[in-house]
Amino acid sequence: MADYDYDVLVIGAGPGGYVAAIRAAQLGLRTACAESRETLGGTCLNVGCIPSKALLHASHLFEEAHSGALAKFGVKVDGASLDLDAMHGSRKDAVKGLTGGIEFLFKKNKVDWLKGLATFTGKDTVEVAGKSYRAKNIIIATGSSVTPLPGVEIDHKAIVDSTSALELPKVPGHLVVIGGGVIGLELGSVWRRLGAQVTVVEYLDQILPGMDGEVRKEAGRIFKKQGFDIRTGTKVTKAEKKGEGVVLTVEPAKGGEAQTIEADTVLVAIGRRPNTDGLGLDKAGLAVNGRGQIETDHRFQTAVPGIWAIGDVVPGPMLAHKAEDEGIAVAENIGGLTGIVNHDVIPSVVYTMPEIAGVGLTEEAAREKGEVKVGKFPMAGNSRAKTIHDTAGFVKVIADAETDRVLGVWIITSVAGTMIAQAAQAMEFGATSEDIAYTCHAHPTHSEAIKEAAMAVTGKPIHI
Ligand code: FAD
Ligand code: NAI
Repeated sequence: MADYDYDVLVIGAGPGGYVAAIRAAQLGLRTACAESRETLGGTCLNVGCIPSKALLHASHLFEEAHSGALAKFGVKVDGASLDLDAMHGSRKDAVKGLTGGIEFLFKKNKVDWLKGLATFTGKDTVEVAGKSYRAKNIIIATGSSVTPLPGVEIDHKAIVDSTSALELPKVPGHLVVIGGGVIGLELGSVWRRLGAQVTVVEYLDQILPGMDGEVRKEAGRIFKKQGFDIRTGTKVTKAEKKGEGVVLTVEPAKGGEAQTIEADTVLVAIGRRPNTDGLGLDKAGLAVNGRGQIETDHRFQTAVPGIWAIGDVVPGPMLAHKAEDEGIAVAENIGGLTGIVNHDVIPSVVYTMPEIAGVGLTEEAAREKGEVKVGKFPMAGNSRAKTIHDTAGFVKVIADAETDRVLGVWIITSVAGTMIAQAAQAMEFGATSEDIAYTCHAHPTHSEAIKEAAMAVTGKPIHI
């Protein structure tokens, strides 16, 4: 098609966009990807998944060494101290390595990186850095950014968002996190482990909305034990700068007496919203829904043929692996194959210690749909967990009472994020709890707890 510059032009090089671009190029399509950041990889690689996990790992090591927790293994550490600059250096190295890796993959697969902000000028034309490009297919993968909280203005010094919270130059004395969701608990954990007092102000009655009720309760209990001051059912009504810090006014969410909390640093983490500002959607004949998202069909095509959308900018959980899978699927659909994402089986993981992971329905949602059977197994009954003094948490398997088909699996334990993959795979293959219970699991592993929880669905586990 001589009159098209590209078969596929992707807007945004996050996990959705860069994966879509690489897959499209692998399928032989002439592909470009527009990205306005200086490096590829989007939110996830630059200021999200990767730097947060780098700090979570490093801060966990520090806490283990510093708190004396290793003594129970016969490891005595005297005088462990924090070198925050070196810790930030290690975080930056991880980001640099991975974002550079995407640049290498673009070159290897012959994906053109169009550097700059892309704006629609028509249904099949996009302008980037003053140059116009015509493409047969355009994939919108512009991601999301921080939802602001009116009255609590982010200055990236005393009042920070997730990006500036990754880069604090010193450990705050008192960090107040607004929002007891994934970011609040992960980044709250980082700074608590490094020595900050951390208060979490959550509007709802419990932290971690969307997760299984029992898991939310257990997580709240564990985080409080770790030293988090968690104030649920509480809203922030005012934030005032005082010296270098901030005074927050809070009150019960349902109304009541106001209180103040003094903080050195406030982290606003109340969710993220899709990026569509300045994209010129109207020029393409597209509109957003009430939540600011771009709607698509199951093939990820928008209301305008030839324009597709994936990742955080479309409905569904805002997760990197969901964006990646949609990236592969949309490229395959454009390339004439059948690209499918099963949105019922998307795992989610909170990378705290212990980790919290789930896939499929919560027990509450499953019970609303029909009769269920639930099997639970505590990590205290798992030999590997006991051996390494890692007994907090449990595994819960939820199955249909009639068919025994697994509807959801929820896990709290140190390696829950790794364990949840087998549950997702079992559910993808339509497994019953019996299928999992009769699958041989290696011993001694944390994963045996999944087998025993599955055994508990219809009968009895062995080790409890
Ligand atoms: P993004 O990664 O947001 O990428 C979109 C890209 O498009 C951006 O680079 C942006 O600059 C670019 N862009 C936007 N508009 C334009 C335009 N007009 N022209 C050119 N370029 C444009 N998810 C997980 O699954 N696991 C985690 O551990 C995890 N941790 C996270 C930690 C934090 C602190 C945060 C903030 C998020 C985390 N997430 C995590 C969520 C994850 O980062 C997102 O779900 C994921 O990045 C979404 O991918 P995306 O491709 O849709 O968009
Ligand atoms: P979130 O949706 O996880 O949590 C936001 C929390 O803030 C909720 O508990 C909500 O009830 C609360 N809240 C909302 N308004 C409030 C207010 N005014 N006052 C007090 N509390 C309020 O959003 P978060 O943590 O900002 O993360 C954004 C997205 O990034 C998530 O949707 C998640 O999918 C993704 N992410 C994923 C990670 C992972 O997979 N491990 C890690 C970090 C982010």
